[in-house]
Amino acid sequence: MLNNTQMRERDLAHIWHPCSQMKDYESLPFIPIKSGKGAYLFDFDGNQYLDAISSWWVNLFGHANPYINEKIKEQVDTLEHVIFAGFSHEPAIRLAERLVALTPEKLNKLFFADNGSSAIEIALKMSFQYYKNDGVVKDIFISLENSYHGETMGALAVGDVSLYKEIYSEILIKTVQAKSPALVSEDEALASMEVLFQKYRGRIAAVVIEPLVQCAGSMAMYGANYISELKKLCEKYEVFMIADEIAVGFGRTGTMFACEQAGVTPDFLCLSKGITGGYLPLSVVMTSDEIYSAFYCDYSEGKSFLDSHSYTGNALACTAANATLDLFEKEHVIETNKVKIDILSALLKRFVDLPNVKEVRQRGFIAAVELAGYAPEKRIGLEIYKYALAHGVLLRPLGNVVYFMPPYIVTEEQLIEMTDVAYEAIKRV
Ligand SMILES: Cc1ncc(COP(=O)(O)O)c(C=O)c1O
Repeated sequence: MLNNTQMRERDLAHIWHPCSQMKDYESLPFIPIKSGKGAYLFDFDGNQYLDAISSWWVNLFGHANPYINEKIKEQVDTLEHVIFAGFSHEPAIRLAERLVALTPEKLNKLFFADNGSSAIEIALKMSFQYYKNDGVVKDIFISLENSYHGETMGALAVGDVSLYKEIYSEILIKTVQAKSPALVSEDEALASMEVLFQKYRGRIAAVVIEPLVQCAGSMAMYGANYISELKKLCEKYEVFMIADEIAVGFGRTGTMFACEQAGVTPDFLCLSKGITGGYLPLSVVMTSDEIYSAFYCDYSEGKSFLDSHSYTGNALACTAANATLDLFEKEHVIETNKVKIDILSALLKRFVDLPNVKEVRQRGFIAAVELAGYAPEKRIGLEIYKYALAHGVLLRPLGNVVYFMPPYIVTEEQLIEMTDVAYEAIKRV
C-alpha cells in the first residue's frame, strides 16, 4: 500500500497545484487524501483531518454522504451527461424548478455553467449584451473594493484582491471599484457608489457584489441594509445588480440565500460551490423573464446568448444538487443549523481575550478571527495552518484571518475540536 511520501512523489512528477507556489511544497508537503467520511479526511499514512473549511467552502453535508452517494449511483446508470444545446434531462429540469421556487421572486430563468468563475462571466456577458441587444453599449462594470469573484479574466477584473489580480492588470477589462461596506461605514460605501454611478452615468452595465460576506477578502462582513440601499441606487441609475452568492448561498449566512436578509431580488444571482454538496462542479446564473426576453427573438436578429461549456447542465452534477436540496428539506437544515451556529458563537467568545486577536466576527456558519500586528511577509496564517494540520484540523487562514466554515453535519464535539486547535495555534504564534 502506498504512503503519503510515495503519493507525493508521483503527484509532483506531473501536477501543478492551484493557488500554490509549488516550491513551498519542498518545506511544507501537501497531503494526499485517500478517503473522506463525514467531516473528516484521511491521508495515506492513516492520519485524519477535521475539515473546518468544507474543502474550499463546497462540502455541506460531509464527505461520502450516504444519501448523495446513493443518488449519484442511481443516476450514473441512467444518464451521466448529454450535450445541453438541443437536449435536456430530468435532473436539470427538476433542479431548475426547485431553485426557482427557493430563490427570491422573479428569478424565473436559469442558465447552467460548471464553476463559479464561469457563472460570473455569464452574468457579466448577459448584462452587457442585454443593453447591446437594444443598441446601447454599457462598457463599465462596478464592484466593491476587497471583492473576489473568481480567476477567469472577467471574474478577476471585477475582483479586487491584488494578490490574484495585479499581475494581470494590463490584460483585464476595465472595471471600477466602490468602497466596501465591510471596510468603511455603510453610508460612506453607498456614497462612494453613487459618485461612480453619476460619473459613469449611462455607461455602467452592472454592479457585482458578494452579499453580506466578502469571503476571499478575509471574511469581511457587512449588513443587509447596504444591499437593499444599493438595489435602490441601481434602480435609480438603471444599473443591473449581480449577486455573487457562489460562496454565501445555500445556508452559509444563516438563510438559504444571503439576499433574502435584505429582501432584495438581484437582476442576476450566481450560485455554485455548495450547490452540489461539494460533489461535482456546477454553477447557475438565475435571472428574470424580463431579461430573458431581451435575448428571445429570431436567430437572424443576432441577439442570442451563445455562451456554452461542454459540461453545462451535467446530469450527475444536477443529481448531486437535487440530493443536496433533498437534504435541506428532509433535515430542516436552515433551522437545525441555528443551534450549531449559536454553539460556534459561544465557542468563539474566548478568542477575543487573546492579546493578538483584533476582531472576532460571524455571519451564520461563517466565523472569522482576525489577528493583529503581523506583517504579511511573516505569513502567520501559514504557521497556523501547519499547527492545525499537525493537530488533525484543516484550517486555511486567509492572511491574518483564521476562519471556520464547517460542513453542516459538524457536531458540537467537532466544533469544540476545531476551535480548540485554532485557539492553541493563535496563542502560540
Ligand atoms: C464569491 C466567489 N465568487 C466566485 C468564486 C469562483 O468560483 P470558482 O472557484 O468555482 O471558479 C469564488 C470562489 O472562491 C467565490 O468565493
